[in-house]
Amino acid sequence: MKVVVTFPIPAVAKELLSEHAELLCWDNEDAIPASTLMEWVADSDAILTTLTCSIGSDVFEQAPNLRVISTVSVGVDHIDVGAAAHYGVSIGHTPGVLTDSTADLAVALMLSVGRRVAEGDALIRSGKWSEGWKPNLLLGTDLSNSTVGVIGLGPIGQAVAARLKGFGCRIIASNRTHRPIDSVEHVDLSTLLERSDIVSLHTALTPDTAGMIGRDQLALMKDGAMLINTARGALVDEVALIAEVKSGRLRAGLDVYHEEPLPPNSALRDLPGCVLLPHVGSATERTRRAMFELALANLMAGLEGIELPAPLVTV
Ligand code: DGY
Repeated sequence: MKVVVTFPIPAVAKELLSEHAELLCWDNEDAIPASTLMEWVADSDAILTTLTCSIGSDVFEQAPNLRVISTVSVGVDHIDVGAAAHYGVSIGHTPGVLTDSTADLAVALMLSVGRRVAEGDALIRSGKWSEGWKPNLLLGTDLSNSTVGVIGLGPIGQAVAARLKGFGCRIIASNRTHRPIDSVEHVDLSTLLERSDIVSLHTALTPDTAGMIGRDQLALMKDGAMLINTARGALVDEVALIAEVKSGRLRAGLDVYHEEPLPPNSALRDLPGCVLLPHVGSATERTRRAMFELALANLMAGLEGIELPAPLVTV
């Protein structure tokens, strides 16, 4: 059997995998070129990958033996899921193990934007904090007792809601299906946007959700409200968001972008009302190890032809 590995993996994982299959490993930190991927998958049985590697229908067409794709991510928007189903290829991903880390980071962004943590840090480092304590220095907004709108009540949205209860927040949520959760009020998307001090996105990127927060939705948000995105950049019209933050009407805490890495000329970089992180929602040592182990277990199960521990479930 042959396995294509599209990103650098530890030597110990290579040793383990090579007991079961011949490996074609892309050991470079830069993304694997599409032409190399196409060449390597031709007679491969499995792909171990991450969200930076796009797997379109052309890959499936090129790989008649392919039976499993295991991605070290919960999101699968980099994989043509319809083509996988068409060609009978299983997809394994890593839900659950990253829930707490991602929820923690969403709350960190809420606090950072509201309490102007990045601005304070930049002020000191620039040497411009020259007058000590001042009554109006970097006044922000409280997370405590605010109204937070959670869009998407999957495991991460629920974990965010659970954390926010500790801050005394009122939590309202919008989800495709009704999920009764203690102290969470279900509302439609427009009501959520109108009522929230903070809107936090926790929904998967699919053709249905792409661009769900556009100009019209942003316009519904309260003056001074904040948008937190730890899910996927393409859920939001980034140009419209930039305009709202630039005007000072909205603030934002972002971990994900339309284009990653964020282009050097992105206007987001110049907006003090934004806290920007480089897609690190799941980036803790414990979580990344757990994601990798789960992805390996998915891969091995796929090669053995048994049920994956964490198969992608589409509804
Ligand atoms: C995912 O898993 O989809 C995150 O975006 C990265 O951990």
